[in-house]
Amino acid sequence: MSDPGELNVNRREVMVGAGACAALAAAPPSVRAQPAPVVTPVMTQVSFNVNGQVRTLELDTRTTLLDALREHLHLTGTKKGCDHGQCGACTVIVDGRRINSCLTLAVMHQGGAVTSIEGLGTPDNLHPMQAAFVKHDGYQCGYCTPGQICSGVAVLDEIKAGIPSHVTADLTAPVQLSESEIRERMSGNICRCGAYSNIVEAMTEVAERQG
Ligand code: FES
Ligand code: FES
Repeated sequence: MSDPGELNVNRREVMVGAGACAALAAAPPSVRAQPAPVVTPVMTQVSFNVNGQVRTLELDTRTTLLDALREHLHLTGTKKGCDHGQCGACTVIVDGRRINSCLTLAVMHQGGAVTSIEGLGTPDNLHPMQAAFVKHDGYQCGYCTPGQICSGVAVLDEIKAGIPSHVTADLTAPVQLSESEIRERMSGNICRCGAYSNIVEAMTEVAERQG
């Protein structure tokens, strides 16, 4: 049980704090916190190749690649989940590597080649990874799916290129396709619907067909 004296001290401290707040509220405006000054955005021209087409945009330098795609180019297939690099919904392929487009500024990709889900296939001519996701039910709500598919395509390229992962047992031998390799490499792509085992099946089928 707490000592009553200690309790009195804490209560006194609370009273002092409350008094300080009241004094601050009564203080003239010049003493109170001032709103942050409005920062004029710095605009710049950014040009990159998006899904095979050169696109040039006038952007605030703070614009993420994700917002450039969704808000400026209206390519809304790339999804914004967390906007903090934690879910993988915004994954796109830039210069052959998958990245979280919410974590990178558009200006950093001047002259680069960006592939979003819209650039992989069309409804009439699906990319093999898209077709395999449909066949194996690799999605439910579909929100994470564009990111999963872009990531899946890049993961198979990584394995083929012999790039090891955290679970690769032998760093001196060619990387073997396995469920654990796929699961480890896809671990940055979260699926709230839990379609993971079907995604692994879809990716395994595409990898086996690629040989
Ligand atoms: Fe980019 Fe979640 S929206 S990682
Ligand atoms: Fe719904 Fe993955 S299919 S979050």
